[in-house]
Amino acid sequence: MGKTTSALKAFYDPTKPYDDNFDDGPTLVSPTDKPYKNSGQPKFKFLGKKLYSPFGIPAGPILNSKYVKYAFERGFDVVVYKTQRSMEFKVNRFPNVLYLDIDGDLTLAKTSKPLLGKTDTDQPIQQLSITNSFGNPSRGPVFWVADTKKAHSYQDKGQLLISSAVGTIKEGFSNEDYYEDFAKAAGLAKSSDVEAIEINLSCPNVANEGILCYTLEPVIDITRRVKERIGNIPLIVKVGYYSAEQQLLLEKVIKEISPYIAAISAINTIPAPVVDKNGNQALPGPNRLVSGICGAAIKWAGLDMVKRLNQLRRKTKAEFEIVGVGGVMTPADFHHYRQAGADVVQSATGAMWNPQLAAQIKKTI
Ligand SMILES: Cc1cc2nc3c(=O)[nH]c(=O)nc-3n(C[C@H](O)[C@H](O)[C@H](O)COP(=O)(O)O)c2cc1C
Repeated sequence: MGKTTSALKAFYDPTKPYDDNFDDGPTLVSPTDKPYKNSGQPKFKFLGKKLYSPFGIPAGPILNSKYVKYAFERGFDVVVYKTQRSMEFKVNRFPNVLYLDIDGDLTLAKTSKPLLGKTDTDQPIQQLSITNSFGNPSRGPVFWVADTKKAHSYQDKGQLLISSAVGTIKEGFSNEDYYEDFAKAAGLAKSSDVEAIEINLSCPNVANEGILCYTLEPVIDITRRVKERIGNIPLIVKVGYYSAEQQLLLEKVIKEISPYIAAISAINTIPAPVVDKNGNQALPGPNRLVSGICGAAIKWAGLDMVKRLNQLRRKTKAEFEIVGVGGVMTPADFHHYRQAGADVVQSATGAMWNPQLAAQIKKTI
C-alpha cells in the first residue's frame, strides 16, 4: 500500500490501524486545532433540546468518549457516538480509509465503474473524497455502555450526544432474531443515559447485513421494535440515498415509520467499487471490493435527499426533523443544507480533516 505522502492530517489518522486510533486518538491536526467556547444562550432547537448550533458530526469518526470530548470542545454541538452493536465485533482489515480523486460529483452512473483508491492525495480539503470501510466494529456493550455514559458527561449546555445502534446477524439467526438484535442494541444505548438514539439502516460495509433501508418490511419491523424498546427517547433513522426510481419506496418508508421516528438522517455513504493502480480490489478481505464513498463528491446526493424529505414532510404533514449529511466541507455547504430544509447538518469527512469547521460555521450563523 505504500506510505502516505499526503500533507493532510485528520483527527482520525488513516495511516494507522483502527485500534491505534481508538486507543491513542484523536490526533492533533495542527497547532491551530484549538478548543472553542460557546457563549451567550443557545438559540437553535432539535428534538426539543436547545443547541448553540444546528451542526455536528454524524456516526463514524467519533470512536469513543475521548473523541466525543474533543468534538464538543471544538464546538460541534450535535455529536453521534460511532455505531455500536449488542455484541463484540471485529473491525475490517487495515486500511480502512483511502483517498479518492473524483472529478466532480460521484453520480450513480459513476459508481458502476471502479474508482482508484490511494494512500495520498493532492486534493484540497474542500474537495476531499474518501472511502471508509470498518464494518461497524464494537468492543461490546460492557465497554461502550459505560463509555457512552462517560461521553454524555462531556455534553455541555446547548449540546447533544446521540447513540447509534445496529443489529448483528449471528450464525443461525432468523430475520426476526436479527431485527430483535437492533432493539437489543438500542435498549443498551438507552441504558447509557443518552437523550436521543439513531439506528443505522444504511451501512454498506458488512456484506451479509446488506443495506436495509431499501427493503420496506425490515425497515418497518426494526423501527417499530426499536421504538417500543426505547420508549419516549427520540428515535432517528439513518438512511442512504434513494434514487429517483426509488422515490415511491422512500414515500412508503416515510409513511410507515413516521409514527415511530423523531428524525431522519440522510445520507450514509454511497457504495462503489474501489481498486488499486493495478485494477485489483484496494481493500483487503472478502466482500470489500465495494465500499462506502463519502466527502465532497456525495454532497449532491445528500442535498437532493434533504430537499425531497423536506417536500415529503410538507406534503404528508409528518412531523419528523431532518439531519442533512454528506459532503459538508465548508460553511457554504452547511448553509446549502439548511436552505434545502435540514434542521441539523453534520459532517464526517469535512470535520475529520478540518476540526475548526464548527467554529468557522459559527462565525456565519
Ligand atoms: C470514518 C468514517 C466512519 C463512519 N462510520 C459510520 C458508522 O459507524 N455509522 C454510520 O451510520 N455511518 C458511518 N459513517 C458515515 C457517515 O456518518 C456519513 O453518513 C458519511 O460519511 C457522509 O458524510 P460525509 O460526506 O460528511 O463524510 C462513517 C463515515 C466515516 C468517514
